Amino acid sequence: MKVLGIETSCDDTGIAIYDEGEGIIANSLYSQTAMHNKYGGIVPELASRDHIRKLLPLMEQALKEAKCKLSDIHAIAYTRGPGLMGALMVGAAFAKGLGYANQLPCIGVHHMEAHLLAPLLEKPAPEFPFIALLVSGGHTLLVLVKQFGDYQILGESVDDAAGEAFDKVAKLLGLPYPGGPAIEKLAEGGDVSRFKFPRPMTDRSGLDFSFSGLKTSVLNIYEKFKNEENCKANIAAGFQIAVIETLLIKCERALKEVGIKSLVVAGGVSANQYLRKRFQKLDESVFYPRYEYCTDNAAMVAYAGFLRIKSGYVDKDFAIQVRARWELAETH
Ligand code: KG4
Ligand code: ZN
Repeated sequence: MKVLGIETSCDDTGIAIYDEGEGIIANSLYSQTAMHNKYGGIVPELASRDHIRKLLPLMEQALKEAKCKLSDIHAIAYTRGPGLMGALMVGAAFAKGLGYANQLPCIGVHHMEAHLLAPLLEKPAPEFPFIALLVSGGHTLLVLVKQFGDYQILGESVDDAAGEAFDKVAKLLGLPYPGGPAIEKLAEGGDVSRFKFPRPMTDRSGLDFSFSGLKTSVLNIYEKFKNEENCKANIAAGFQIAVIETLLIKCERALKEVGIKSLVVAGGVSANQYLRKRFQKLDESVFYPRYEYCTDNAAMVAYAGFLRIKSGYVDKDFAIQVRARWELAETH
């Protein structure tokens, strides 16, 4: 079975093909970053319009890469939500149009479930049950994954997501979007001990996160020390380690509380090399997606769609339905 995956939830247009025997056989991606950068953040209407322009050429590219034709495809998976409404609509309409014209089943996929499952494409793959830390631009979630489709939220951010905190702090320091990679790079030349930022909500019990206060601390420090040599790099290093240690403390807590031996870390922030290094100190095994499957991509959507169709799920009709907001625990 071959599943074509479509990702358009935010500012990346992706088309990938998953083959049951061979795994991912095509993965095309177009990032709109350069276009949005001019505006200092994502402009939803521009994102939707650009997805329209890119989907068809990306699909042709993916089919070519996989050396197959549309008639070799058995099902179409697309991101139904959560994400930007217009952007999701473009992907869903494309999927349903393809499905209707070729009489193929369509599978609406939850974007965060796709992130969560991405490490299963690697070898060795994590085995159920595991704890998942999902850290993207829109979400920070700690999830108990008992098996495929059984997701219990243990903790989440009460305000900004971890990736969002990177993006906002980057903006404050005059760095481009997305902020994560820019901060990671700047932090390389910084002294992590120069500024000590808080590790929010780690001094009390529970598994929720809060990252919006960190932004204010950064702003205050920056205003006070901006003329000091290497100030920005020192802030980047101190801020980055504060986020990473906060995530680490909560993961340690979740693993101990639930008594589970493996952790999956996925979503855009899991691309961070400092995070991966720091998480080595855990006794439990930690699983990540490969670098290109950390940030948004269609490979994870194709794979999640494949697992869903195997479990008996397909959309009941060709109606175009998306969900800008959608709880992970309600997915199945
Ligand atoms: O998963 P993703 O591509 O999109 C969403 O679903 O939101 O995550 C994007 C987020 C952005 O906030 C970006 O700044 C962050 O992931 N990110 C990183 C890194 N690469 C991307 N954060 C920290 N370090 C990175 N290397
Ligand atoms: Zn994402």
